[in-house]
Amino acid sequence: MADHSVAVAPANQRTTPMLEVTDLEVVLPAGAVVDRVSFTVPAGRTTGLIGESGSGKTMTAMAVVGLLPDTASASGEVRWKAQDLLVAPERRRRQVRGREIGVVFQDPSAALNPIQTVGRQVGEILRRDGLPRTQVRARVLELLARVGLPEPERQADSYPHEMSGGMRQRVMIAIALAGQPELVIADEPTTALDVTTQARILALLADLREREGLAMILVSHDLRVMAHVADEVVVMYAGRVAEQGPARAVLDRPYHPYTRALAANVPAVTSRTAIAEPLPGAPASPFDRPSGCPFHPRCPMARDRCVTEVPALREITEAGAGPGRFSACHFAEEVS
Ligand SMILES: Nc1ncnc2c1ncn2[C@@H]1O[C@H](COP(=O)(O)OP(=O)(O)OP(=O)(O)O)[C@@H](O)[C@H]1O
Ligand code: SF4
Ligand SMILES: [Mg+2]
Repeated sequence: MADHSVAVAPANQRTTPMLEVTDLEVVLPAGAVVDRVSFTVPAGRTTGLIGESGSGKTMTAMAVVGLLPDTASASGEVRWKAQDLLVAPERRRRQVRGREIGVVFQDPSAALNPIQTVGRQVGEILRRDGLPRTQVRARVLELLARVGLPEPERQADSYPHEMSGGMRQRVMIAIALAGQPELVIADEPTTALDVTTQARILALLADLREREGLAMILVSHDLRVMAHVADEVVVMYAGRVAEQGPARAVLDRPYHPYTRALAANVPAVTSRTAIAEPLPGAPASPFDRPSGCPFHPRCPMARDRCVTEVPALREITEAGAGPGRFSACHFAEEVS
């Protein structure tokens, strides 16, 4: 039987990469939707994946837990606790998914079972672990309280449709936490919610990270979300990394015109809508990538070289850049 007490990562373990993704590639019949993406998630830290719709964020995140569509295949390395999950037996991958790594999906309405009570769904993994009924109930109430649901006793017996979107997303987070994960993958956990509720859910995620040392992969197209929650960010464009590095530094001083354009399109904090103005031009499809730099048809800085030569992701070493800055722009140093 699993021990369901709350585990807190010791502070001295917090910078060890617990997850190390190297040269991840995800190929669908129509082509590669994720092209050599690498990043790490140290214990207790949050790594953010950001980019417009179709840039490959979800595919990257789901490849980590082996939740890709049947037609997709992944290569590269997903090193979790010294084991490459991409080649691990399915039995081991199932054990990791939902337990060591929890997943929160974008749309709680689609992910929750409409005909089961919330309490039953939160308790499912505990029952599977063979926890006695009374202990399951106590633990479910504890989890519901922990994600900030008022009156856990009453909420446990309600059905998803009786709850607001924000409450359902809290339930999703409770389900993800039930297996006592060390890492949570949250794919656009707030997109379906209104702005106020979004802020509350983000505060909850930040709190879980702070108090319990939970590591996180946070997928979002909202830069404000990233600035608040992420330690590191990976900016994706057409399935490739455009830029990556420490979150604050990347957002304050981008080294890629795409990141700069995203940052310039962040609406004011007072805005009633969280949807940023779209960048001019359509995002490049990973199935039909423009030649050279995939961003060149939309890039205000593009010149001849950009059309013919694919920019490599390289470390930016100029004075003042700070450590750990990478950009896939030929002219990165001219951006900031
Ligand atoms: N089940 C699928 N079958 C085939 N192609 C898919 C499937 N899911 C996504 N794709 C394609 O793979 C590419 C990457 O999609 P992905 O869902 O990872 O993007 P995303 O960055 O998460 O976008 P969004 O912000 O819209 O969620 C897109 O071009 C998309 O059309
Ligand atoms: S490589 Fe060229 S097209 Fe691509 S982002 Fe840099 S300047 Fe723009
Ligand atoms: Mg997605």
